Amino acid sequence: MDEIERIQRRYEERDASAALTGFWSLGSPAVLHAAQERERVVLAALKARAIDLRALRVLDVGCGLGVEFPNYLRWGSAAANLVGVDLSHARLLHAARRFGVPVVQASGAALPFADASFDLVVQNVVFSSIVDDSMRRKTAAEMLRVLRPGGHLLWYDAFRTRSSDPHFRTVPRAEICGLFESVDWSFDTLTSDLGITVRAQRWLGDWSLPLLDGCRVLRTHLLGLGVKR
Ligand SMILES: C[S@@+](CC[C@H](N)C(=O)[O-])C[C@H]1O[C@@H](n2cnc3c(N)ncnc32)[C@H](O)[C@@H]1O
Repeated sequence: MDEIERIQRRYEERDASAALTGFWSLGSPAVLHAAQERERVVLAALKARAIDLRALRVLDVGCGLGVEFPNYLRWGSAAANLVGVDLSHARLLHAARRFGVPVVQASGAALPFADASFDLVVQNVVFSSIVDDSMRRKTAAEMLRVLRPGGHLLWYDAFRTRSSDPHFRTVPRAEICGLFESVDWSFDTLTSDLGITVRAQRWLGDWSLPLLDGCRVLRTHLLGLGVKR
């Protein structure tokens, strides 16, 4: 089985699992807290670089169910300036029906777009689903090809984990910098280990969640904002 087939099967299984979709639902206070923390960090990073989404052409690589689309729209993007790409036809169908954003079924490693055709390219927990090094390199190269010089990359993914899932591989900061050599990055760490925050919220209550945000050792994800030289 090749890497593309493996990823497609993995997400078919995942979307069919009520336990997994339930765990990641915003109905979970810990998941909602992590999403809200990420939104705050992203908006602060965009503001620090004076990035105004209103006129930008945005590509979401591995957009999946389009969960991020309402965020871009809320942050100022026009639906017509957004495009989502994913390997999964079923996920794209859901995203297009729900949010009215254009989507294309394609691999991030072979993007069907012209060079320098986007101002902002986003990847949100996609590289950790790609375990094959060559596919990671090709996807990074394609993201850079379609991004205009001076354009930005927005990155959110796990840099460490306690999980031993063979379908999940973290992406350390050094690897990101190696994959995107022509990009100047700034990074923040965020998202306390969800296995811990879910339990803490159940046992102690909602007040424990902002308290755990202060423990840097529990943080599992990197938020990167990079500019292409
Ligand atoms: C964990 S989900 C994240 C989805 C979305 N970015 C979000 O934040 O909700 C990972 C998504 O990446 C897609 N994906 C993984 N590898 C890909 C690749 N090489 N090209 C396109 N999509 C890919 C999967 O099909 C899946 O929908």
